[in-house]
Amino acid sequence: MQVAVKRDKPERVAADVLAIFLPQEKSLAPKSVVAQLDQRLEGRIREYLDSGDFSGALNSTALVHTGGKIQVPRVLLVGLGKPAAFKIDVLRQAGATAATSVRRLGVSALALLPPASDLEPVEVGQALTEGALLGLYTLKRYKTVAENDDKDNLHEIALLANGNAQRALENGVKRGQIIAEAVNMARDLSNSPGNEVNPSYLAKQAQEIAAQTGLRCHVLDAAGMREHGMGCLLGVAQGSDQPPAFIMLEHAPKGTKAQPIVLVGKGITFDSGGISIKPAANMEDMKMDMSGGAAVLGTMQALAQLGYPRRVVGLVPASENLPSGNAVKPGDILRAMSGKTVEVINTDAEGRLILADALAYAVQEFKPACIVDLATLTGAVVVALGSQATGMMGTDKAMMDRLRAAGDYSAERVWELPLFDEYSKQIKSDVADIKNVSNNREAGSIIGGAFLKEFVGDTPWVHLDIAGTAWTRENRAYIPRGATGVGIRLLVTALEEMVDQPAQSTAKVGVRPKGSIR
Ligand code: BES
Ligand code: ZN
Ligand code: ZN
Repeated sequence: MQVAVKRDKPERVAADVLAIFLPQEKSLAPKSVVAQLDQRLEGRIREYLDSGDFSGALNSTALVHTGGKIQVPRVLLVGLGKPAAFKIDVLRQAGATAATSVRRLGVSALALLPPASDLEPVEVGQALTEGALLGLYTLKRYKTVAENDDKDNLHEIALLANGNAQRALENGVKRGQIIAEAVNMARDLSNSPGNEVNPSYLAKQAQEIAAQTGLRCHVLDAAGMREHGMGCLLGVAQGSDQPPAFIMLEHAPKGTKAQPIVLVGKGITFDSGGISIKPAANMEDMKMDMSGGAAVLGTMQALAQLGYPRRVVGLVPASENLPSGNAVKPGDILRAMSGKTVEVINTDAEGRLILADALAYAVQEFKPACIVDLATLTGAVVVALGSQATGMMGTDKAMMDRLRAAGDYSAERVWELPLFDEYSKQIKSDVADIKNVSNNREAGSIIGGAFLKEFVGDTPWVHLDIAGTAWTRENRAYIPRGATGVGIRLLVTALEEMVDQPAQSTAKVGVRPKGSIR
């Protein structure tokens, strides 16, 4: 999909549909671009407001035929909701609503007239582009017969610039494109089935990203894992015929020798539970258990393309979790790369096992400035927070504050759960150093976090449990049902905020303007 910025006046633009964005108000802002457009249309837009056919509620739409009064044959009204509730996510949603509504009409060229707001033009360009491209996402590659989308002819979106905002708007469009492509790539990985997306496929994908972006890529196979003593990752992988992979991507801009930020993503390409096997209902969804890994690959791709100035390393331990005659069993004891021994009580708590080795590897090999891990780690976080917030735990308050602010801005919200020392007592094992689950079902997500904490030493670290946010059963404005690609927009926002501030700094988080309609 092409997204461009054009200087055309709204009444002159060559497009099939012009989308304009209106707040939920009874009248048009006097002298506004929209009011001028309405004059040319002899009040056709006003008629929609007066009749109540269009309320301006968020994501509501109405199609106005222009009857030859202006060049474009149809104007799509898109609601922005109540002015008091305006924020940048409204633009993402409205961009998606415009794009998906006209796709249904089968048109090929859409023009968007950005609404006036106090957001920076670069933010407006990015938000509308992100929203449109994320909203248009579909996974087509396994369908041999086109379905509802057989009318999909949309191949050009243009944002209309007025005056000196053009450059900034273009910059925003570019950023939006980079980020949306990374998110949609991650969605493809999570939505695709386990028989295609296995650990080797993830490794190949990482290599392709590296070839396209200039990132460095290195993949450890099982022998390499053995050399490094990654007994927990190998333990999970031993039940599968598919070889595991330990994937590394490095973004090292010139002149950045500083300790890197390390991102770690869980890459279980199918989680059957192993010997502690899961119930059959909805087990197919466990193809998405590599969503943390996909988010790390997508974030690395986006950071490289955005020219991010700091050194960042992405690590994805990848494996299947299957039962077999050779699978790890409850009671087995594994030795992690850090030397700690782990009693496996439940083979379905496999994510923390593979992350244990990845975290230990990060600490030993990179002495990172900080570590953020993303994992579909626990069903318990779905119980606690549902699909509206990612569970956050960690050892560094400044980092968590930054991620919370980034979550609010990107609408990939996080919510902190405590990691009090007392929780760690619940994973003491009688026979090994620790065990991978506690004796009861209490505080399941926190127990997962407490387990991971055993492997980060004193490196500032944050764990994001995305089990509830990586997948959705309902269509949202710019998130079609299935894999959401969560984490990439959150991390890019948070990391960009860190550029001028050292990771450990306790400086105030740079909260961005909330945005309001002018
Ligand atoms: N991959 C699952 C967690 C999950 C659940 C992800 C729902 C996405 C949606 C994880 O490996 C798992 O099975 N966790 C267990 C842990 C338990 C055995 C302590 C769980 O949550 O039941
Ligand atoms: Zn599991
Ligand atoms: Zn899992």
